[in-house]
Amino acid sequence: MSKYELPQLPYDFSALEPVISGQIMELHYTKHHQGYVNNLNTALEKYQEAESKKDISAMIALQSAIKFNGGGHVNHSIFWTNLAPVGKGGGEPPKGELAQAIKENFGSLENLMEKFSGMTVAVQGSGWGWLGYDKLKSELVITTCANQDPLSTQGYVPLLGIDVWEHAYYLQYKNVRGDYVKNIWKIINWHNVEERFLKAK
Ligand SMILES: [Fe+2]
Repeated sequence: MSKYELPQLPYDFSALEPVISGQIMELHYTKHHQGYVNNLNTALEKYQEAESKKDISAMIALQSAIKFNGGGHVNHSIFWTNLAPVGKGGGEPPKGELAQAIKENFGSLENLMEKFSGMTVAVQGSGWGWLGYDKLKSELVITTCANQDPLSTQGYVPLLGIDVWEHAYYLQYKNVRGDYVKNIWKIINWHNVEERFLKAK
């Protein structure tokens, strides 16, 4: 069975400073994301073993580890590409069809950011804020997910995720999650969000 691997980070660890410190980025990518990848591979190996033995109890018991670590891998792989250094696309406003859809669904980019920030800062414990696409209704949605639950568990296509686990900001912002979320808009790669949106449609 082929193993999951860390995707390449599309910029240097320090490239998102001063919004996210190089120290946070290095730990987040090399320790946390790598940890999800390693644990996912281990869980899938055990699952395959259990499957070959037709051990359904063991297969069911492994599902939460697969969801948690698989979700961690999926979510972080999206998150890294949702960000870009200032001057290399980070913070440049959305264009084209995405800009149009934002206007139709939220009135303005400012409204989207306000709603997204409010809901994401309010996540209890660890989780993520998401902008997703609802294929059934053909509209953009803002929602949150607990822990590492991927947005697909709510039936939406993930476009933009903001990680509000403490490991994403604590070394720099301490307990002030609101400042981290306020600042991260300066490095959002809306071009990447638009690519995901066009693909989802
Ligand atoms: Fe994270």
